[in-house]
Parts: sequence; C-alpha cells; structure tokens
Amino acid sequence: MRLSVIGCGYLGAVHAAAMASIGHDVVGIDVDERKIASLSEGRAPFFEPGLQDILTAGLASGRLRFTTDIGAAAGSSVHFIGVGTPQQQGAYAADLGFVNAAIEALVPHLRPGDIVAGKSTVPVGTAESLAPQVASSGATLVWNPEFLREGWAVQDTIDPDRLVAGVPGGPEGERAAQILRAVYHPSIDKGTPFIVTDYATAELVKVSANAFLATKISFINAMAEIAEATGADVTQLADAIGHDARIGRRFLGAGIGFGGGCLPKDIRAFSARAEELGKGESVAFLREVDAINLRRRERAVELVTNALGGSAVGKKVAVLGAAFKPHSDDIRDSPALDVAVRLKGLGADVVVTDPAAIDNARRAHPQLSYTRDLDSALTAAHAVIVVTEWDEYRRALDPERAGLLVDSTVVIDGRNCLDAAAWRAAGWTYYGMGRP
Ligand code: UDX
Repeated sequence: MRLSVIGCGYLGAVHAAAMASIGHDVVGIDVDERKIASLSEGRAPFFEPGLQDILTAGLASGRLRFTTDIGAAAGSSVHFIGVGTPQQQGAYAADLGFVNAAIEALVPHLRPGDIVAGKSTVPVGTAESLAPQVASSGATLVWNPEFLREGWAVQDTIDPDRLVAGVPGGPEGERAAQILRAVYHPSIDKGTPFIVTDYATAELVKVSANAFLATKISFINAMAEIAEATGADVTQLADAIGHDARIGRRFLGAGIGFGGGCLPKDIRAFSARAEELGKGESVAFLREVDAINLRRRERAVELVTNALGGSAVGKKVAVLGAAFKPHSDDIRDSPALDVAVRLKGLGADVVVTDPAAIDNARRAHPQLSYTRDLDSALTAAHAVIVVTEWDEYRRALDPERAGLLVDSTVVIDGRNCLDAAAWRAAGWTYYGMGRP
C-alpha cells in the first residue's frame, strides 16, 4: 500500500521505516529540513536500536523516502499523523499546534476515500473536532494511537501488544477499519489483537495506559518513601508483591522516577483535559503521581548531599547517565539530568557521562561538564550517582576497579540497579532508593 507519514520524530521516523520494512511504499514528511536530510541520507537522526537497519534497507529497496514537501502525500491511501503534542508553555494542557498544522497542510492533497490515521497522543475529543475538516475532502479520519516505548520502538511498531483504531460509526468506519487492518496485516496475522472502537475510547486508551504506568511507578516510589521511614527494602517489597499475577513486577522499579517525552506530559495533559470536562476530581490522583515522582529526584539529591557530609560545594560528583532511560538518547524531562542540574545548583562539581545522550544533554544544559569516558567521570569523584540504568553501569562497571579511580567510595544507586552486595564487598558505601 502507499502510505504517507507526517512528522518524522521518534514516532513518525520509526513508523515510516517500519511500514516500509513490512512491504509498504512509504513517504515520510517533516517540516524540519535537517531531519529530512539526515533520514534521506540514511542516517537515523536519533539513537533507536534497530532503526538504522530498517532505514538503510528501506531506502535501498526504493520503498522509503523522505521529503519536506507535503504535496508528496498525494496518491497515498493512508496518511499517518505522527507529529508531537508537547506540553503548552506555562500550562498543563497539550499543545495541539503541530497536529492542527499537519491536518491543515494535508487536507488539500487528500482524495475521496483516503484515510487519515492520527497516531499522536491527543486529549480526548480531538479526533471528533478534526473529523469534519478531513471529511471536507472526502477522506475519513481514524485515531490509531501508538504505544511504542523508546529503545524498543522498532519492535513495538512491527509487533505491538495491540492495535487500536477509533473510527466513525457506520459503513465509513467499517471501511476505514478494514483499510487499517490491511496496513497492519502482517502483525494481525500473527495474532496481535486489533481493537476497533470509537474516537473517544481510542484516545483514552492511550492516555489511560500512560496514566496507569505512571501511577504504578509512583505507587512503588511512594512505598520507597515509607520504606525509608521504616527501614524496609522497597526492592524486596516489589519482588514480593510482584509475584501476585494481578499486580506483576514490571514497572515496579523504584528510583528517581519517570521522565521522557510521554509519561510526564501525558498525565498533565490528562489532568488538564479532565478539568475542562468538569471531571478534574476523577484524575486528581495524577497530581499526586506527578508530585511523588518529582520528590524522588529531590530525595536522590539529598542522599548525595548527606553522603558528602551535608554540603556538595566544591565536591566532584560523577553522574552516570543523562538519558531518561537506557537504550535512548532522549533527555526530555530526564530525571537523570534534573538530578545533575540540581547538584550543580548546590555547588557540586558535576561531571556527567552517558553512552548515548551527551550531545543532547550538552545542548540543553551547557553549564554542566560532560565526558564520554566513564573512567574520567569517576576519577577523583567524591561521590558517584547512577541515574540511568545502562548496562555499562549495571553490569559492566566493576566496583573493585571503580574504587581505585574515585576519591571516596560512595555510590548512590538512583535506579536500584546495582548489585548492592558486590559494591559493599568492594568497600563502597552504598545507598539505594527506598532501601536500608
Ligand atoms: C512510555 C510508554 O511505556 C509507552 O507505551 C508510550 O507509548 C510512551 O511512553 P517511554 O517514554 O519510551 O514509553 O518510556 P518507558 O519505558 O515507559 O519509561 C518511562 C520512564 O519511567 C523512564 O524514565 C523510566 O526510567 C521510568 N521507569 C520505568 C521507572 O522509573 N520505573 C519502572 O519500573 C519503569
């Protein structure tokens, strides 16, 4: 099938390359000339495992191309909208400017019968309000939310847990669902559930999934706070409750909390939308989820300061990690960088290292010092804090060797990802989050 993908960021670039990899003929479109130049030359503009391979293969096959010309969408039968919906400046609500602009630019190029499939995360009610504009060209709007995780985006796009299509009622909706089924048939044939529903449910599936995940993380981080007051160990607690299949161990990783381009802004946008609907009360707990999450960053800083004897002034702190999670170079709302910035604000001599995110981090926070070399980050450090659980720190870092480089063998495990016993056995003073 001929497909267009409007917006070539983390979502759209992966979607375009993944759709080409399953045999479709795809054009990716973005207003950002640098991004399009990079994609056209076969260079993934951000770090995402597996993307480079499918990008190279797609371009070589002739089934994948990129352009800044929205006119190139003409002739495709399905047009995916994968532009960003960031948090508004100075407010909690989502900024729909990019979605509105994409639809407006696309409409003149649509043919009757085309499908416009929104993938961006939007406040419930958005599809309903955009549908008439799409219908004016004889095309049909569907909402087909994306659940990809950064770091697993290629796999999540080709083999998702589920596919969701919010469609209008009647034969038009049935036809649209049929077309989306054809797009995703390789995955549906393998048994991926394909859920056809209305616009509002499709939009809510996405935001409620993210709200649930954020709540799960903040729940265990709240337990970490209680553990800190009682001498309990939150990681053992998570293991124990996680054995209950109704609860499950995943997303019960206590630490410095969630960040990234989705969870924080999505729960805030959800709160804002619920307020507009007069249902703020229903998701009032999300404010608490956000507050618990931010408190954990503060707690990590407190652990470092205490470990340094009450003041960080002039002390070298090695910050291991900058990305909001491993296998990503994304630093949007990164708890790791936030901790680094706060420590710098307290007068510490902060040196940040990360296997993938240094360039992005430096652009956003030029006031911090960076090194790609883990050893030089560790050398003469008065404290080490692990804030992104890269394998480079979790598995590969030998506490014995690291101990020879630092000034003081003090480690704060902001992700509860190190082997505490091994670090202690190597002579380190180890502090976890929510652990004795
Ligand atoms: C998330 C959703 O998982 C995905 O389905 C949605 O499409 C987009 O938002 P992503 O932002 O890539 O994906 O990251 P995710 O893996 O969910 O992690 C989010 C944050 O939570 C990270 O900062 C991570 O470190 C943190 N986290 C995750 C924890 O603190 N503890 C955990 O147990 C799990």
